[in-house]
Amino acid sequence: MIRRLRRLRGLDATRRLVRETRLSTSDLVYPLFIDARIGARQPIPSMPGVYRLPLTELEQEVTEISSLEIPAVLLFGLPERKDSIGTEAYATDGIVQRAIKLVKKTVPQLAVISDVCLCQFTDHGHCGVVKGGLIDNDETLELLSRTAVSHAKAGADIVGPSAMMDGQVKAIRNELDANDLKCTAIMGYSAKFASSFYGPFREAAESTPLWGDRRTYQMDPSNKNEALREIALDIEEGADIVMVKPALGYLDILSQARSRFDTPIAAFNVSGEYAMVKAAAEKGWLNEKAVAMEVIRSIKRAGADIIITYFAKTIADQLREAPE
Ligand code: PBG
Ligand code: ZN
Repeated sequence: MIRRLRRLRGLDATRRLVRETRLSTSDLVYPLFIDARIGARQPIPSMPGVYRLPLTELEQEVTEISSLEIPAVLLFGLPERKDSIGTEAYATDGIVQRAIKLVKKTVPQLAVISDVCLCQFTDHGHCGVVKGGLIDNDETLELLSRTAVSHAKAGADIVGPSAMMDGQVKAIRNELDANDLKCTAIMGYSAKFASSFYGPFREAAESTPLWGDRRTYQMDPSNKNEALREIALDIEEGADIVMVKPALGYLDILSQARSRFDTPIAAFNVSGEYAMVKAAAEKGWLNEKAVAMEVIRSIKRAGADIIITYFAKTIADQLREAPE
């Protein structure tokens, strides 16, 4: 007797009945780049379909995102000026702070997540304060906390520290609480690897380090146990959501984190993962829409509750046509 697993694959209806992973627009977060120096949207060459936006185009953009029923955006800012200590990152009238206010005013029901880091705001491009050629962890904590508080005061629902400084979640939680911002949540970029898949993002955000690289603070791509320790630490420090980043090359970590922790887990389908699919599709080598769905499905199947992706709009579109 043959075990006939094909029996339930015969009809779309039976395939639907036994589907184990269902994608939903509710899983998605769309990243946005807001640029203080431009008057009209600028394409990002290595990320076709993604733009740097001026504040003046933000209202229209988030209205569209909200009408697609995408529940959240993740905001990145490009400031007017950069300096050695990333002053614009924690300025009350900084580009991210102004963007947060505008989004919450335009579509209050859309969740605003803000990226909390210094690299877009420092002239050297590192995620922290540089001292004697090294990135000073504890001095950076102070500036990250200040940045997070300024985002929360502007109305961010969730702050997302991405600098990979030790103790960043705890420092931010303490400072938020001390400022009566107890309801602002923290999404820790907990297991963030020193990945070459961030290349297109760094072009978009102009945040490539001037010298050296990020390997003294971001994780070694070889390490899984250490990633689980990073996640456990962020949970202890008070993270409401933890993250694995990038997503595709790190699905093993996502899967193991899922079975070990009950905290919501986000996965960041990063710029290079997006660029690969777009480039192949442009050459006619891949079916972009189908591959995007398959990529996002694999990330969900591995265990992500939340998927941050530049494909969010096209996924939302496809799910509207064919809900799962
Ligand atoms: C900044 C930051 C980066 C990304 C998110 N936040 C880049 C980096 O660490 O160099 C990458 C996102 C992407 O590639 O889509 N700390
Ligand atoms: Zn950074």
